[in-house]
Parts: sequence; structure tokens; C-alpha cells
Amino acid sequence: MTFASFFSGCGGFDLGFTTRGFRPKGAFDCDPDAVENFAANVDGPVNRVDLTQGLSDEQSLFGVDALIAGPPCQGFSTAGKRMLNDDRNHLLTLTGTLARRVSPKVLVVENVSGALSGEHARYLKSLDATMRLAGYRTHTMRCEAADLGMAQLRRRVLFFAWQTGKDMQFTEPKGPRGKLRTALFGVDKQPNHNPRQLTNNSREWNIAQRIKPGQKLSNVRGGTNAVATWDIPEVFGSVTEHERTVLELLRRLRRQERQRAYGDADPVSIPRLEAALGPRFARLVDGLIEKGYLRRVGGGIDLVGTFNGKFRRLAWDKPSCTVDTRFGAPRYFLHPSQHRGFTVREAARIQGFSDNYVFRGSEQAQYRLIGNAVPPPLGEFAATIVKQLIS
Ligand SMILES: C[S@@+](CC[C@H](N)C(=O)[O-])C[C@H]1O[C@@H](n2cnc3c(N)ncnc32)[C@H](O)[C@@H]1O
Repeated sequence: MTFASFFSGCGGFDLGFTTRGFRPKGAFDCDPDAVENFAANVDGPVNRVDLTQGLSDEQSLFGVDALIAGPPCQGFSTAGKRMLNDDRNHLLTLTGTLARRVSPKVLVVENVSGALSGEHARYLKSLDATMRLAGYRTHTMRCEAADLGMAQLRRRVLFFAWQTGKDMQFTEPKGPRGKLRTALFGVDKQPNHNPRQLTNNSREWNIAQRIKPGQKLSNVRGGTNAVATWDIPEVFGSVTEHERTVLELLRRLRRQERQRAYGDADPVSIPRLEAALGPRFARLVDGLIEKGYLRRVGGGIDLVGTFNGKFRRLAWDKPSCTVDTRFGAPRYFLHPSQHRGFTVREAARIQGFSDNYVFRGSEQAQYRLIGNAVPPPLGEFAATIVKQLIS
């Protein structure tokens, strides 16, 4: 069984296929860091190529069993700006154009689940139409990496197109979820593991020491998993009980008065807040503006910082949230029991890379490659399906 790989990155998707016995015919990516790491750690030839310029030697790939592709997901991801016209979105449709020329038995494309929702779905629909017109059967499935036993919540889409005529029941995985404790067991002596603790009494350290496992810094929602800035007076300044009530009321009202279809919420109009607070309105609001908690925006009042999703401390006995390119930064992700972000090795472990994979280049590039990778176990899952489609 042979395979080739487009947008191969550092080779997470590819590792899943080589582990399942597929022989690599060629991998293609335009990023020098990706190509360097791939060449040092993954079997098979890798080429630095801008795929928008086409392939110079596509005949060598003609008729491979599997063509796998993980085109960039940033334009589809709900974690980003989700621009409908993000140039990178077209790489999903380009994958179909290139696949038709290579004519693999099976095409597998991985992307974020945001590629299936709203207007953004047009790119995946176009890929689907391209492959059907070329005589392929297609199927799109959602897949949660944690349900493969991984210690990470990572919802993804796998698109399959096959010209083997095979009838296939696609079943989503539903196994027990992994835990962070197991994924990080014995990580200490492994390469690419250089923990950097936050400096004692620094601003970030003071915030981190108030956040327990499972909690994050957030002014957007209440509840036990959110720690608000006003709960950390040593960093953000103290407030009176009255002022706290105002901040919590504003938090609730800004969600109720929400105007937009995306993002967390909107400023609260002055008449609405005035009606809720009565005669104390001006004194309380002015006081909180002076303390740096509130600000005037247009005709309304809003919180100065929403901090949603910052300083998220993971819990040992749960799967990690989605590993992204910022996993080393403690202001986004905190280790369960230490005041620091995650090391490259920890991020790689959670993504399902073996410790034999030694990352090279700048640490920033290493986190980027790992955060963008298809987890090798998800690659293995896809490879198992491909085996059935070509059998
Ligand atoms: C989501 S990552 C792929 C991850 C990879 N499949 C893995 O498992 O590690 C997307 C990749 O597309 C590459 N890329 C983006 N634009 C490209 C282009 N025009 N030609 C080739 N590669 C491109 C990026 O360098 C990045 O490595």
C-alpha cells in the first residue's frame, strides 16, 4: 500500500499511515521548518513545494493507494477570525484539483469541524463536487480525537473520496477518553522537555496561582470554572462588594444585550445599566472606570478586559483541550500543577507523537508544527478506513 501527502507539515498525518503499513511515495509542504522536521523524523521523500504552483513530477504519484492532505484550517477555525475569504480556504478546493490529476484510489482530507458550518462549508462542498464529478464516492465524518482514547479534545472532520466502488459503513469512534496524567507520565527525561516556570511574584505568576485545575481567567461567564479579574485584586486592583455586584450584573447584561452573531457579547447601553442600578449608577460606574475595570464604548459601558480563554489550567484527570500553536504560553495554557505553560514534548505527547520524534529549529516553530499537526493516532484511524476501502 502506498500513499502521498499534501500539506504534510511535520508529518503527524503521515506517521499514522506509515504506522499502519503504508509506504510513502512523497510528501509536500512549503514551510522550511516543516520540511526539516519531517525529513529528520518521518520516512519517505519530502519536498519543499508551494502547491498553488502545482507539482512538477505528479506522474510519480499517479495511482497511489492513498493521497492524504491536511490543508491549513486557520480560515475555518472558530479559534481564529474565520474569514470567509481567507486565501488559505482555497487550498481545500485546490486539494481536489490536484487529487484529480494524481488519481489516487482514496483521498483523505482532514480539517477543523468549522469547515462544515455555515457559509464556510462551500469549500468542502466544492471539494466533494470535484471528486464526485471525477467518479469518486465520498463521505464526510466528524471525529473527536479523545474518543480514540487520546488525552485531548480535538474535533475534526475527515473527508474520504474513493474510486474503488466499495460499500462502506463509517462508524465514529466512541472509546473511553484518555487523561492528561497518562499522556504526560514519565515525560521528564525526554528530549524537547525544557520546563520554564513563571518568575515568582510576576504578574503572570500572581494570576496563575489563583487559577485551579479546570479553571480559566474569564470575565465573560460566571460559574465555578471562571476566575474573574476582580477575584485577583493583587493584580487587577480591589473592588468593594457593591462594585463586584455591578461587574457581575454587567457581565450578565452584556450577554443579554448581545448584538453580534459571533464573539462573546456587546457593551451594555447606559439607559439599561442606569435602570438596573438606579441612583447609584453614576458613582459606581465612574468609580469602576477610574479603577480600570470599566470603559465607555460609544453609547454604552463595557468591561475593560474579557480575558476569555486566557490562563486555562488543565486538569490531570481529564483530556486536554485542543493543542494549538500557543501551547507553550502560560497566558493561554497552564500546566495542571506547576505555574508554567507546556513544554514542546508535553504538547507533542498530548498530540500523540512518540518520544522518538525529536523536534528541531526554533521553539516557536516547534510549537507551531505540533499545534497544526494531525495527531498521529487520528492518522492511524484514517489509515484503517483506507485499508478497508482498498481491500
Ligand atoms: C494544518 S498544517 C498540516 C499538518 C500536517 N498534515 C501534519 O499532520 O503535521 C497545514 C500545512 O500546509 C502548509 N501549506 C500552506 N500553504 C501551502 C502551500 N501553498 N503549499 C504547500 N504547503 C502549504 C503549511 O506550511 C502547513 O504545514
